[in-house]
Amino acid sequence: MHRSGDNVSSLSATPQNRRRWPIAALVVGVGVVLGGCAKNAPQDTFRPAGSNSQRIDNLARPVFYIAGIVGVIVLSVITYCVIKFKDRGQDIPEQTHGNPKLEIALTILPAIILAAIAVPTVVTVFALDKKSDSQCVINVTGQQWWWEYDYTAGNCGGVEITAPIVTAGELVIPAHTNVLLRITSRDVIHSFWIPRLNGKRDAVPGRLSTLRMEASQPGIYTGQCTEFCGLSHARMRQAAVALDTNDFKTWVDNQLQAYKAPDPGSLAATGEATFLAQCSKCHQINGILKPDGTPSLAEPDLYEVSGAAPNLTNLMTRTAFAGWTFDLISDKCRNELWNAKPADFGALYLQGVWMDTPAGATTPVCFNEANLRSWLRNAPAMKPMFSDPTQLASTGGRYRGMPNLNLSEAQIDQLVAFLLERK
Ligand code: CUA
Repeated sequence: MHRSGDNVSSLSATPQNRRRWPIAALVVGVGVVLGGCAKNAPQDTFRPAGSNSQRIDNLARPVFYIAGIVGVIVLSVITYCVIKFKDRGQDIPEQTHGNPKLEIALTILPAIILAAIAVPTVVTVFALDKKSDSQCVINVTGQQWWWEYDYTAGNCGGVEITAPIVTAGELVIPAHTNVLLRITSRDVIHSFWIPRLNGKRDAVPGRLSTLRMEASQPGIYTGQCTEFCGLSHARMRQAAVALDTNDFKTWVDNQLQAYKAPDPGSLAATGEATFLAQCSKCHQINGILKPDGTPSLAEPDLYEVSGAAPNLTNLMTRTAFAGWTFDLISDKCRNELWNAKPADFGALYLQGVWMDTPAGATTPVCFNEANLRSWLRNAPAMKPMFSDPTQLASTGGRYRGMPNLNLSEAQIDQLVAFLLERK
């Protein structure tokens, strides 16, 4: 600290200072490079956590090293020549033309290097594209600005999924399982990327692309949309949560649990009515009934330009919402979950906002209430979505993204109580 302070305070170009500049540049350069090695970097491609990302790493590292060595040699030769042959008024050197031996050598050497890189590259590309060993298929749809996951009924890594599950933001998969994602988009081009599990895959409307996922141990692996897709592109995040088979089965059972209406007269019951009146046109909660006893079915295609809104069934089993951008659990609990040992991870994750809550307690210790409340109070203020109500004329009365519903604080209390009940 002291030294850099000295540098800043004495910028005059004395010979001594001129010598310090390269050192300062070196320090800054090394700092920038080492900054990329931060230990707590959840989206670090150089820390593969599954077989597919490991294949990419096995290919990328040697290529990077070879390219690095070639780069250093080329730069060294250029630097040497620039200094050695600098114009000092000397005579023009002897002019030569052609050097067959050197030219042949400089053609063959790169050809050998490229061939050596091409073979493992092609092998890796084919290995990453393999579908015949898939043990689970999940449909993924990019939306402005969130990811929808749709589990069809069937076997997934040894767990029988008896009815379709639709969720958002957080992709829950069984660990040690080859999961095949079938990726598409409803609106514009997005790109699905969980750096520690595999490379990127564009989500293109009208097209289906596949991506293999395999996590070698339970844990949470985060990512973000990597194709510019509009106003809230930077707020379009995602995570893959890997659970061992038993925990994955529990997660599936939890998702498919039959809907239980809140106790009559409770705050949550008022919240259910508020949800039906304010939210259910766009957001589905499976099994919820309208006052007349018929199922409430969301029709986002009538109210949203996108024709979609996240399914909120069992919202509190997720750890983040709104494009997986805002936490549903507190910072402390998130750190606890993200740093959990693989053996402890599943049990913690399955508790969701109820993590660390003593048995019998009615308030979940880990619930990030402030985030959910401010979202309900004014969603567009937290995530730009073009949801300006004065623009409705141009979209046939349909919203772009969640509008500000002007809910009262009492209604927000009711909705929070209701959403919290569905664990
Ligand atoms: Cu979706 Cu960027």
